Amino acid sequence: MNGLDRIRLVSLRDKVMSAQQAIKLIKDGSVVGLSGFGGAGEAKTVPLALADYAKEHPLKITLATGASLGNRIDGRLNEAHAIERRYPYQADPGLRKSINAGEVMYIDQHLSEMADNIRHHNLPRINVAVIAATAITEDGQIIPTGSCGNSANFIEMADHVIVEIDNTINPVLEGVHDIYVPKARPHRDPIPLTQAGDRIGTIGINVSSEKISAIVLNDVPDTSFKMDEPDAETLAIAQHLITFFEGEVAAGRLPENLGPLQSGVGSIANAVFSGFEHSNFHDLEMYSEVLQDCTFQLIDSGKMAFASGCSMTLSEPCAAQVMKNFDQYKDKIMLRPQELSNNPEIIRRLGIIAINTALEFDIYGNVNSTHVTGTKMMNGIGGSGDFTRHAHIAIFVTKSVAKGGAISSVVPMVSHTDHTDHDVDIVVTEQGLVDLRGLAPRERARKVIEVCAHPDYRAELFSYFERACEKGGQTPHILAEALSWHAKFEETGTMSRTA
Ligand code: COA
Repeated sequence: MNGLDRIRLVSLRDKVMSAQQAIKLIKDGSVVGLSGFGGAGEAKTVPLALADYAKEHPLKITLATGASLGNRIDGRLNEAHAIERRYPYQADPGLRKSINAGEVMYIDQHLSEMADNIRHHNLPRINVAVIAATAITEDGQIIPTGSCGNSANFIEMADHVIVEIDNTINPVLEGVHDIYVPKARPHRDPIPLTQAGDRIGTIGINVSSEKISAIVLNDVPDTSFKMDEPDAETLAIAQHLITFFEGEVAAGRLPENLGPLQSGVGSIANAVFSGFEHSNFHDLEMYSEVLQDCTFQLIDSGKMAFASGCSMTLSEPCAAQVMKNFDQYKDKIMLRPQELSNNPEIIRRLGIIAINTALEFDIYGNVNSTHVTGTKMMNGIGGSGDFTRHAHIAIFVTKSVAKGGAISSVVPMVSHTDHTDHDVDIVVTEQGLVDLRGLAPRERARKVIEVCAHPDYRAELFSYFERACEKGGQTPHILAEALSWHAKFEETGTMSRTA
């Protein structure tokens, strides 16, 4: 049977069974902890078999993961009405619909916090952990695949563990993971990581053999991702950032390699990072969540010296290239559990520059990353809060308008607040960049409107701000009007007053 040789602790081979047998461990009401983060490293055969089963035999589970899943697993489980509760992050269009219809209870959580919440019983115990593995070593360690996510924690806290040996994953990945599990409070030590490249843990997840209830062999590959090519706006955003960084280095406020960088997810983030390619920066480092194509392009061009992440989410050509030449990347990347990659203690210690994407920000620098017009969930806060709150410099990027100009991404008041003006240092659109540090709210507003807002919306934003200032206040607002831009969009399909 293909893949048996990857179970190098031979005594475990007796536990191999079909996915249909293994899913009998999952009952109606079970809490299932699934590996997977950023669309990489998820177990596939078992959850897909569960989705098929649930179509005929209705059951509902609580689904916990690292973050978003590939292979439409969220979508397929949702179509089978098998998800009752979901945390901490998702990015599936079908599940998004069910969440916004109130059919699935979604707990949108900081990614760094989930493992501790399970460890300290603030979230329910994991009944069944389903974990993708590249291999099981001779001494029984589980080697993760393309992501670490919450797998170590799920295994630590689960009643039953199902391991999915992923035959599609190139075995060269063994050795790239750094698994460190913090002790439960109050006996916790400082995490001994002082440089992005420090190895502090083991290459696999330790688990006692008795806890492994089933092993399933998987042949479904991870999803490959297609990144949009940078466009004029994202290139402009990248250029504003590069200019800002050059200024910070020249002023002696940042080292020449800037310090470790974190990048958010999505096409804008990918384009912004690609911008470093044409900069004069070198020896860059990442201490981030998702390593995207741009990370490997920067390594290839000699710009990036080291990248630590929680997962690798790559396009097909990039994945093929990386796997074929893995020897040249092996000592330049590391994958870590999300309670390490997103850990506030480490983020603060390393002095990370965090660059994340906003749906919208307001004239004072509050940011909404999650809720369209304040109510409808897009994806979730993901790691953006973990990084923003603790970063050395917290940056948000977005295009100044969305939906062909019908939405201004700079608004009088955000319709939902994920990141407050106390945490946000820099905001950038293709129009320009504003450094909010050291500015009082009234100073911030003038600059944000002048520099970041789209010209079509500037006059209306100024009008709002000036009338708000007449009413007074540290952070002036006209409450009856503050969210009227969103209300107008809902009613008419545009925020523009002149439309
Ligand atoms: N109001 C309503 N919709 C908006 C909007 C706004 N102000 N701004 C953007 N959108 C829409 C876009 O039109 C697009 O819609 P479409 O999919 O129908 O085309 C969608 O949101 C995505 O926007 P896009 O400009 O393509 O950006 P993106 O792919 O980079 O995603 C976020 C942006 C904010 C949704 C995404 O970064 C996210 O989920 N962030 C939160 C989690 C996070 O930051 N994780 C990383 C931490 S390490």
